[in-house]
Amino acid sequence: MSEIASEVQQLMKEFEPDFLERFRHLHQIPEMSFEEYKTTAYIKEKLSGWGIEIQDIGSETGVIGLLTGASEGPCIGLRADIDALPVKEEASCPYPSKTEGMMHACGHDTHMASLLGAAQILAAMREKIKGSVKFIFQPAEEVNLGAKKFVKLHCLENPKVDAIFGIHNSPEIPVGTVAVKNGPLMASVDRITFTIKGKGGHGGIPQRNVDPIVAAAAIIQAAQTIVSRNVSPIDSAVVSICNVRAGEGTTNNVTPDEVKMYGTVRAYKEETQKLVERRLTEITKSISEAYGCEGSFVYLYELAATVNNPKLYDTAYKAVTGIGATPVDPAPSTGGEDFSDFLKGGVPGFFYWLGTRNEEKDCVYSWHSPRFKADEDCIAIGAGTYAMSVFEAIETLKK
Ligand code: NI
Repeated sequence: MSEIASEVQQLMKEFEPDFLERFRHLHQIPEMSFEEYKTTAYIKEKLSGWGIEIQDIGSETGVIGLLTGASEGPCIGLRADIDALPVKEEASCPYPSKTEGMMHACGHDTHMASLLGAAQILAAMREKIKGSVKFIFQPAEEVNLGAKKFVKLHCLENPKVDAIFGIHNSPEIPVGTVAVKNGPLMASVDRITFTIKGKGGHGGIPQRNVDPIVAAAAIIQAAQTIVSRNVSPIDSAVVSICNVRAGEGTTNNVTPDEVKMYGTVRAYKEETQKLVERRLTEITKSISEAYGCEGSFVYLYELAATVNNPKLYDTAYKAVTGIGATPVDPAPSTGGEDFSDFLKGGVPGFFYWLGTRNEEKDCVYSWHSPRFKADEDCIAIGAGTYAMSVFEAIETLKK
């Protein structure tokens, strides 16, 4: 084991009581997206206390901290998200949320506590850092807007971030493990909207109407052939229409003028997103026409896929094994992450899943569940993974 890795491991152990104190505090003060004021103040106070410079990029919530090491070198970004959800906590937690109807049901408190832990470790090891570290505590991940805002406010500049790492907890993999996945990890998340216009009238006299509901039904059926007939069987995608609106109340005998439908598309490649967009546009237009309706379709690119940079795979693997955690290689998720917004400008990045599952402690429920609970033993591992990624990445980037 390298000298650096053994020092990181020793500090993980030594500072763990501090990590847990901060985790429990953050768990108790959940705040909604873009309203993370108390959380922001708490993070700033902690970072300043370790001599980390707070950079004001012009955002009321979220924090950027900069730690300058002993010598010139690359700047490594470490990112955590800080917002909570409007979920009433039902987990058996000894330090429950103090805000009624709100909780860290996606476990972003584990990310913050891990990143603060890494800041504490790295500040104590400042003399050994050949470069700098930018701590990015971004707001509003849950609404897919926080990373976009931070990138727009130039959080990846001054100094320019040369590589970036992020973590999300995972109740799917056991505590003590960290997912180190090469290539695609999380899917793109896009929004689709259909409008099918016909001519409403009496439901009992259909010959006088142009029924948009029949056209919409045909569009729904045809949309389901895109994944099976157009997307390569080796590739994958999801097309889900989740919301269909037409008619008023429980009326049963009036054909409406219009049908609106909303849905989501998931994929791992930009070319697949484009293929789905093209096919949905064609299907909407031609089927609407065939049924005498007017169809329009809007495809909104919301989040790109989170794809881990192959050049950082060895770096990430070494970081995880270096701190004594077990790397695992799970299947990718069709969930999305706005970490991908940090990668859009070409910064190489790597995203980990931090294992939080522990049956004995009832830490088994999925994200966004009112019973979600992370095994707090994950915090030291998260802190170590972030901290060790800095040292390994600086070595990789020097080559
Ligand atoms: Ni989350």
